Amino acid sequence: MLPNLIKFEKIGFSHTGYISVAEVSKNIDFEIKRVYWTYFTPNHIERGNHAHKKLEQLIFAVNGKIDFNLEDSNGNKHKFTLDAPHIGLYIPPGYWRTIRFSHNAVLLCLASEAYDENDYIRDYNDFLDN
Ligand code: TYD
Repeated sequence: MLPNLIKFEKIGFSHTGYISVAEVSKNIDFEIKRVYWTYFTPNHIERGNHAHKKLEQLIFAVNGKIDFNLEDSNGNKHKFTLDAPHIGLYIPPGYWRTIRFSHNAVLLCLASEAYDENDYIRDYNDFLDN
């Protein structure tokens, strides 16, 4: 599977606001073992700079705007912007990512595995050799 944007239903109306739902087996293909969120990242900071061996992720910008540059170990590049809370970005294992945030961005990640530093590839040359 390639990285891709997934549009979630917006339940509600413009005058009431909305609910969007991610539910295992209905619109998520992996079991969620962990949820984390990042926030208060200044615009000039680039986060990420790693790949995962096994981890699958579904990522939302629940607020603000987040730009992703993804690259596989053959050099295939994909760019995505999350700027609406009902859009998710699915990232399969094996993608080097660099991420930039608007100052108000909140990134919410639904993750298929518990945190495991051994699942990270943090050296770009090791990633290319993988
Ligand atoms: P990292 O995944 O490297 O961050 P980013 O891609 O957002 O720049 O994680 C940053 C730090 O937080 C690192 O020291 C590991 C720690 N961390 C946890 O302890 N548990 C977690 O679930 C995550 C995602 C990170």
